[in-house]
Amino acid sequence: MKIAIVNGPNLNLLGTREPNIYGNTTFTSYFETLQQTFKEVELMYFQSNHEGALIDKLHELGFSFDGIVLNAGAYTHTSIALADAVRAITTPVIEVHISNVYQRETFRHHSYLAAAAIGVISGFGLNSYHLAIEAFIKKPV
Ligand code: DQA
Repeated sequence: MKIAIVNGPNLNLLGTREPNIYGNTTFTSYFETLQQTFKEVELMYFQSNHEGALIDKLHELGFSFDGIVLNAGAYTHTSIALADAVRAITTPVIEVHISNVYQRETFRHHSYLAAAAIGVISGFGLNSYHLAIEAFIKKPV
């Protein structure tokens, strides 16, 4: 099984960015934990701060991977183009957020991606990614 994690803007700064919201762990080190935990899964990780690069990556992975775990960061709340890309590919996408976006500012309550994704996981810290991978393993689509 091949699962990709695609992270959007500012998520390269995990570990130092607003640690009270996003924690102290870098994504690179958390990705190693995920690889140790899900040894049977071929995991890949991509991060970009650029909307077009994220769309290109969805196009590249989205016809051969079994699942994409997408944290589009703030583009979640703004990008119709990313939502169209999620709809354009055949690989199912789970939208994830580290924070519980519904406990935060109202502009974070709307997601353009949610209706195109097979599901949304929000508010479990980095464990949101773990839960999304489990969802793909337990319910292959
Ligand atoms: C986030 C929530 C978004 O609202 C925010 O813009 C992010 C991170 C999260 O993982 O909690 O960059 O996607």
